[in-house]
Parts: sequence; structure tokens; C-alpha cells
Amino acid sequence: MEKYKMSAFVSLNKGPGWRELSCSLLLLFCCVFAGSVGVSCRNENGDSVDWYIVYNLPDLDRKTGLMYLYMDNNSKSWNYGKRNINDPESALAQTLWPFFTFIEKKIEGFGYLLYNDQPPKEYKTAPSSFGHSKGVVMLDRQTGVWLTHSTPQFPGKTRRSFWPSSGKSNGQTFFCGTYKYSNFSDIAIQLQYIHIYTFDFHVPTTFHDGLRCVAQRTCYPRKAPWFKRLEMKSLAGNTFISFAKYSRFQDDLYSGLLVDYLGDDIYSKSWGKLRRPLPSNCSGSHKVYNVQEMQLPQTQPFGTAVDHSKWCVTDSDGQPWTCIADMNREESQSKRGGGAVCTNDTGVWEAFRKIVNTYENCRHVEL
Ligand SMILES: *[C@@H]1O[C@H](CO)[C@@H](O)[C@H](O)[C@H]1NC(C)=O
Ligand SMILES: *[C@@H]1O[C@H](CO)[C@@H](O)[C@H](O)[C@H]1NC(C)=O
Ligand SMILES: *[C@@H]1O[C@H](CO)[C@@H](O)[C@H](O)[C@H]1NC(C)=O
Ligand SMILES: *[C@@H]1O[C@H](CO)[C@@H](O)[C@H](O)[C@H]1NC(C)=O
Repeated sequence: MEKYKMSAFVSLNKGPGWRELSCSLLLLFCCVFAGSVGVSCRNENGDSVDWYIVYNLPDLDRKTGLMYLYMDNNSKSWNYGKRNINDPESALAQTLWPFFTFIEKKIEGFGYLLYNDQPPKEYKTAPSSFGHSKGVVMLDRQTGVWLTHSTPQFPGKTRRSFWPSSGKSNGQTFFCGTYKYSNFSDIAIQLQYIHIYTFDFHVPTTFHDGLRCVAQRTCYPRKAPWFKRLEMKSLAGNTFISFAKYSRFQDDLYSGLLVDYLGDDIYSKSWGKLRRPLPSNCSGSHKVYNVQEMQLPQTQPFGTAVDHSKWCVTDSDGQPWTCIADMNREESQSKRGGGAVCTNDTGVWEAFRKIVNTYENCRHVEL
């Protein structure tokens, strides 16, 4: 019996038949797997991940401008990227890989659209009637990515040039989510409300019509209410909520829309060099406080004048919401399209809640 077992063991491991079989099984598995997640958010190793959040640091002491913090479905807390954000193998570059490949080789069955209210320099500037928003949509007929962010002139078209030279000085945030192809018809409607300014796109004629018309900047919402909320299921089954407001909404994203849905006081992080910033707002049933100083792990605190990121986080873990947003709390931005993608993941909430160092209190209103 012992002997038989032994020989079976040996032949299983050493027999050429088994080896071939396991090889072809492995190949089959890899092909099927890779085929179904070709376009996906990706980490620094190039592995597909369901979602991630990137926080690019401001250039503190001329040292940290290209460093970034990263978290995803597998590690819901801040970790420093091993590479610089402009590296051809950073999480952003790995994610944009199908786009770079398309630019080089025009692969079939792939589509993308790039939008930014501050497009790269070689493109026309965006009229302010369009949304104050920045993002990348990439997809094939199986899956796609919606990457929203705060970085002017992002992205360039190659692995070496995708990060703009202007991108070094200020902090920025990114949210990447992976979704099924079928879900992009609903995402396209969110993009209509945001009224994105696409500066470059390629959407095959066989793809969702809605995506083609937002890419061409020819569709927009036609009836009130002038905002839209969409519950999105990611590929791995996580739920994210997209909030989008159209220019005709005529109110601040945070105090006029998000805070009521999030159901708690919020800390809202905007760019610190705004012409007419809105003050913290305590007039509603939940308060909106402007964040003044951030404290990310293992670095000195910094203020909003060097941090162009846009996000908000609720006060208490009873309503653990975090939103990565398009917009600042600014008077003129009340009149523009824009939005946010929100999650109630407690790990993400903890990570963001902890970095709120100081915030602006509400002013006393004299009656
Ligand atoms: C990602 O999240 C989903 C839903 O929360 C979970 O089912 C899945 O196992 C996660 N994937 C990994 C690799 O952790
Ligand atoms: C995403 O697609 C799935 C089926 O493909 C559908 O059940 C789900 O409702 C869709 N969700 C959104 C937000 O479009
Ligand atoms: C506070 O927010 C509400 C909703 O956006 C707005 O109507 C009101 O004018 C704001 N108040 C101040 C003082 O900004
Ligand atoms: C997050 O929201 C979903 C519904 O959108 C709910 O089912 C879930 O319980 C919430 N999780 C937490 C931690 O609040």
C-alpha cells in the first residue's frame, strides 16, 4: 500500500502526461482570466484590482511631489507606492496600459475617452460651460475602467509622458473602479450630467450610443432634477455611488447635494487657491466643514494651498462615507457640472477620517 501510494505520487508529479495537462490547464485558466479582465484597474505589479484610491503627495521640501499613497480592495489602508507616480509601472501607468497600447497599435474592440476641464497644453482650453471634472474611461466589450481624478493636463499618451510636468507640485486624488461593459450605458448618463469636456476619444460605433454622444459632447440632461445619483456595482460586487450635478443645479456639490445623502456632518477638502471659496456651512441639518490641514502617514502636515485634491469624509463611523470628487467648494463651481464617487467602506473611511488634521469652524451668523 505504501509502495503504491509512493508510485502514484511519483507518477503524478513526474509523469509527462500530468505535466502537460497541468500546463495546458494553467494556460487555459490564464487566457480565460486575462481575457475577461483586459481593461481593469491595476496595481503596481500589473495585477487587476477591483478598485483603488491614489493620493499623490504635494512637493514638500522638494522631495515628495512624485510620491503617492495607495489603497485597494486587498489593503484598505494607506501604503506608499514603491515607484514614483510618473513611473511607467506606477498603478496609474499599469491601469492606462490598454490606452497606451491602443495609441501604438490601434487594437480593435477598444474604446476610451479622456476628459478634463484643463486638458493637456496641445489641446484647446475648455469653455467654462462644461463641467469642472477630470477623468478617463477605457473599455472593451467585457469590462472597463472609470478613473476620476483632480489632475490638470492628465493624461499624456505614452508610458513615459502620461504624467504632466505640472503634476509635481500639488497633491491630487484618484479613484479607479472596474465595471462590466454593460454598466457603461448608465455611467454615460452620469457623464452627461457632469457635462464632461472630452479632449480626446475613440469609441467604436458598436459601443453604447450614450458613450459616443458624451464623447462627442452632443448630449446633456433635458429635464429637472438637475442631478443624478447612480448606485454602481463594480466587477467584484462592491457598491459605489456616483453623484453628478448639471450646471442648472445651481448649488454647491457638498452642501447642496452630498451632505444630505451622506446623512452626517462632513469634512470637505478643496483646493486652497480659489477666487471665491465658500465658507464652512452649518445651516443644514448636517454641517459641512472645510478641511484646512491634512496629515498623511509618515509625512509632515500640509495645507490646502499645495493640495489640489478634492474629497470629503463623514464625521462618524455610523455613516462611514468617503467621496473622491471633481469639485471645490467655490462660488463659480456651484454653477458648473461635476460630481463625486462615494463608498461606505469602513476601511476607506478610517483612512480618510484620520488625515483630517484641522478644519474651518462655522462663522457666527449675526441676526
Ligand atoms: C474585493 O471585494 C469583494 C467585495 O467586497 C470581495 O468579494 C472580493 O473577495 C475582494 N477581492 C479581493 C481580492 O480581496
Ligand atoms: C450593471 O450590469 C448588471 C448586469 O450586467 C446589472 O444587473 C446592474 O444593474 C448594472 N448596474 C448598473 C449601475 O448599471
Ligand atoms: C449653506 O448651504 C446651503 C445649501 O448649499 C445654501 O443654500 C446656503 O446658502 C449656504 N449658506 C452659506 C452661508 O453659504
Ligand atoms: C453601505 O451601504 C450599503 C447600501 O448601499 C448597505 O447595505 C451597507 O450596510 C452599508 N455599509 C455600512 C458599513 O454602512
